[in-house]
Amino acid sequence: MSEDTRDPMCNDSSNIHFRDILAASLGNPERRRLLRGGLGLAGLAMVPGVATYASPASAGGLQTGSFAAALGFPSVSKNLVDDVSLPPGYRYRVLHATGDSLDPSVSAYSNSGVESDDWSRRVGDHHDGMDIYFMDRDGRYTEADTGRAVLCVNHESSADSHFMHPKGQTSGGQNGKKFTQFGDWDLGARPADEVLKEINHHGVSLVEIERSGNTWQKVASSKHSRRVTAQTPARIAGPRAHIEAIRALMVTRWDTAGGMARGTLNNCGHGKTPWGTYLTCEENWAFYFGMAAGGAELPAREIAARRRYGVVTAPPAAGAQRAISQGWHTVSNTDDRFARWNLSASASSAERDFRQEANTFGYNVEIDPLRPDSTPVKRVALGRMAHEGAVFSLPVPGQPLAVYQGCDARNEYIYKFVSAEPWDPLDAGGGIAVGDKYLNEGRLYAARFNADGRGEWIELDSADPRIANFAAYRFANQAEVLVYTRLAADAVGATKMDRPEWGAVNPRNGEVYFTLTNNNAANRTPQKVDPANPRAYMDVDGKKQAGNPNGHIIRFREDGGHADARSFRWDIFLFGAEEDAGDANLSGLSAGNAFSSPDGLWFSQATGICWIQTDDGAMTDECGCMMLAAIPGRVGDGGKITAKNKMQVDGSELTGTQDTFIGAALGEARLRRFLVAPPGAEVTGVTETPDGRTLFVNIQHPGENTRAGAWPESLWPGNRGYGPTGRPRSATIVITRDDGGLIGA
Ligand code: FEO
Ligand code: CA
Ligand code: CA
Repeated sequence: MSEDTRDPMCNDSSNIHFRDILAASLGNPERRRLLRGGLGLAGLAMVPGVATYASPASAGGLQTGSFAAALGFPSVSKNLVDDVSLPPGYRYRVLHATGDSLDPSVSAYSNSGVESDDWSRRVGDHHDGMDIYFMDRDGRYTEADTGRAVLCVNHESSADSHFMHPKGQTSGGQNGKKFTQFGDWDLGARPADEVLKEINHHGVSLVEIERSGNTWQKVASSKHSRRVTAQTPARIAGPRAHIEAIRALMVTRWDTAGGMARGTLNNCGHGKTPWGTYLTCEENWAFYFGMAAGGAELPAREIAARRRYGVVTAPPAAGAQRAISQGWHTVSNTDDRFARWNLSASASSAERDFRQEANTFGYNVEIDPLRPDSTPVKRVALGRMAHEGAVFSLPVPGQPLAVYQGCDARNEYIYKFVSAEPWDPLDAGGGIAVGDKYLNEGRLYAARFNADGRGEWIELDSADPRIANFAAYRFANQAEVLVYTRLAADAVGATKMDRPEWGAVNPRNGEVYFTLTNNNAANRTPQKVDPANPRAYMDVDGKKQAGNPNGHIIRFREDGGHADARSFRWDIFLFGAEEDAGDANLSGLSAGNAFSSPDGLWFSQATGICWIQTDDGAMTDECGCMMLAAIPGRVGDGGKITAKNKMQVDGSELTGTQDTFIGAALGEARLRRFLVAPPGAEVTGVTETPDGRTLFVNIQHPGENTRAGAWPESLWPGNRGYGPTGRPRSATIVITRDDGGLIGA
């Protein structure tokens, strides 16, 4: 999601700025020599604790396929065309779009907002993270392409819910008004039928698909095609030693034992587990909740915990006309489907109201795509945050699994969960029961990026004196560390990043990549930068945004290549920029590969191509959001550079420099624009068939900037022959090559 209002800055901790560390670390002559000499392989081998990936086969997890050595397509030019633009020789087909019926008994989508059903049997809105699960003849999980699969697609948000109602959202009885998601809305009761549609278009669509010729299509009727929505019951799971204390934080009047929660919200990035299940990540869940007037005042600890997540802490002030939330709670205070969104302490205890309902959101939720009767599970051990994605280390038999996670808001952190159990390949295909083995017991860490190009994983443990004695929040136990994870990471001094979005693991060498989509001038000025977030500058034209408007992609290699390493080496793979951005264009981008605000990030297992997807508002005056293909090298293949920073603040010019580490320049030979999306859309979510000849990609919220009642900014995909024309729709597309070749190679 791109709009500033949806990514508020909730981190006011005083965590360190790395200029100070840089000064300290450069006192070490050995470090200084390494930095000056660049970080090639020879240099790395000399750094204690840093091993190269020398034995792919014996390590087990590394891929040994013949990866693409070059990109095999001409770059797609920047454009603002209301279509999906691809290189010559490529074509796309829409697989499914917002509102498509999953059931022959549910009417075809009108695309005019007149549906009278509650949307629980339709494809959701705002397609986001996605993955594919092949099944054999008996419906069992297999890694092989059987021509039959369940495609899981996340549905992120309702930023443009006005497209799903006849005249936009009705708010306070005033039909047709512009509704700004997570912005203000008129106080007053919202209509139940509208709110039910909005609740149900969130979550995940699980859709059975089958190969048809050289492309794929939905299966018309399938027991596997189903929805997990913001109302679907889910089990709360966590470490055995702390589960009772976790449940105490989840108690509501719907489940006074706190063992179950309802639904999943704002499903952004995702993860695919090595055992064949899907993790859907709850990102901006905080802004769906409101508070009705009249409840008891909240305890100070509760207020501190809520604030750190941007969760409402008080009802609207007396006389206020508007409030921030979706207004879902206004429908009814007695019908729990709606009352659950009211976080007021309205009754005598947590067992009698929904004051703790927000504690049940903010997790990675495991879903078993091939077992339609299974119950989703909220994996509390992985921490609670604005989860953007959950990406697994390359599984190595006999070694623990790591799950890398970004918390997407300004100045938030990158995290890692390490399983207590070592990976057993016999668990592949074991489904959600296997999730209980690997995702309940383990250690949770936050990342600290140091000025010498090294980094540390700091464990989030309530026994750590920094957490035990943290002044901003008095942790009662480890359960609170898992549920108020951001505060625990503040306590141990994790590094504040420029909005961590997706992570991805390079199958060639196990290195971990994270997109840092952007940050604004409130957080990045030439005086407020650090080696891992080193730029503060201004967009050259368009909106002239200041801060780090184009974002960057950081990467790291775990010491020894081990998922459970406590330290790593990092550099910055790419800096987003326009090609005419001068000193800010540190990666030497050109017209054919300039990009801004990287978000989705994913490696093809077939070609090894690193696919980069953008969710941008800074460069969209000249080009829609896009997808690029990259062939990366490895951490340390570039060297040390100095970013020259300059920006205007309140009429005066601020300047400064910041040293950092950068990957080797790719040029257009190894970085090219592959796809441009229609106006208003972001590109997010990508998966493939194992042969690398079919790519599935999501186009989210075309026409997002349309005002209710105004002519839509985009008419896609109706304008290209998919479904009724009239309003733009999010969709999954299937990309193939006319000659049947590998995508991108
Ligand atoms: Fe859902 Fe951070 O994008
Ligand atoms: Ca521009
Ligand atoms: Ca995203």
